Amino acid sequence: MKNDDSTVSRGYQSDRVYIFDTTLRDGEQSPGATMTLQEKVRLARQLELLGVDIIEAGFPAASPGDFEAVRAVSKTVTNCQVAGLCRAVAADIDRAWEALKHAANPRIHVFLATSPIHMEHKLRKTPEQVLEMAKTAILHAASLTKNVEFSAEDASRSELPFLAKVVETVIDAGATTVNIPDTVGYIQPEEYGNIIRYLTENVKNINKAVISVHCHDDLGLAVANSLAAVKAGARQIECTINGIGERAGNTAMDEVVMNLNVRHDYYQCSCGIITEQIYPTARTLSHIIGMPIPANKAIVGANAFAHESGIHQDGVLKCRETYEIMDAAAIGKTGNDMVLGKHSGRHAIKAKVEELGYTLNDDQITIVSDAVKKLADIKKEIFSEDVEAIVLEEIFRMPD
Ligand code: KIV
Ligand code: ZN
Repeated sequence: MKNDDSTVSRGYQSDRVYIFDTTLRDGEQSPGATMTLQEKVRLARQLELLGVDIIEAGFPAASPGDFEAVRAVSKTVTNCQVAGLCRAVAADIDRAWEALKHAANPRIHVFLATSPIHMEHKLRKTPEQVLEMAKTAILHAASLTKNVEFSAEDASRSELPFLAKVVETVIDAGATTVNIPDTVGYIQPEEYGNIIRYLTENVKNINKAVISVHCHDDLGLAVANSLAAVKAGARQIECTINGIGERAGNTAMDEVVMNLNVRHDYYQCSCGIITEQIYPTARTLSHIIGMPIPANKAIVGANAFAHESGIHQDGVLKCRETYEIMDAAAIGKTGNDMVLGKHSGRHAIKAKVEELGYTLNDDQITIVSDAVKKLADIKKEIFSEDVEAIVLEEIFRMPD
């Protein structure tokens, strides 16, 4: 199929991955992550600074509060598209549009389930009825704006020929983004990649839309699945800050973005995220919802750039890249962290002592080092104050 410029930049041949942030919608569905309207606007401003392409601000038909929040975010944000979620029914679509129409770049996001289990037990509709509903809903949304996304809910458990038919139908009806969610966090990376590849090969108008992925982390694979989908041709990733979201959460934005950056050689795709805003954004969300970031979380966890083992500390002090694949500064952190403990070596202890302003000879470093290790056996964490106290006590002890 021949591609003109506009379809290439939207389709799966492009090297640009769009980042669709759903912290304010799917993320807020995380237990304990409810935000007030003011907090949502504050986070939306931070997401704009971060450089996300699309902010999903809420589900306007779900509640008056959600409607007001989508409206307020639409009026505030100017540099990103603002999306509102709706079911595939005219009343929901109209309500979403009412909230979104003030946005500089509004997007209507319609979802409808396509898996046998959802169609039979939740929707109680036949596949033919679902196909018709999807087409009618997208035609209606496309009469309001040119920027329309369709999500085939539970796509990963749908029958592929039917999923392809739905995707083709909604693109013909005006959808410019087609989302293939792994709603229940069930799929494996290779299988997910195969679904995306199947759609690129079997949907004849696929180049007229961006293929999007939306993963949940029930089996801990949301990030791996999203990246496998990009490798297979998806060009929009739906994700949340710190990976918050329904049940075990959604794809963590910081993790997919840093994979695309650090392994650009592998993915050959870029996104528009200002990576130096990743850490400040993670902290802003954590403060707003009162949910700490786990210390061992990749990228933004407190330990992600911390080194405790003596061999690692020595290596990093000689050459950062020996044990670090990215620079803490790239995500907006001030630097890596040498955590002193019983595994720390002389090199790290000497560096800490010098950072505190003391110059000691080799014998004195050995004395301090032994004392730090002894203390680390009885105390979980060694702080700068502990090291200073040891230096003062063991080296500069005032005679009795
Ligand atoms: O998980 C899901 O399928 C969703 C859709 C509404 C996009 O959140
Ligand atoms: Zn979801």
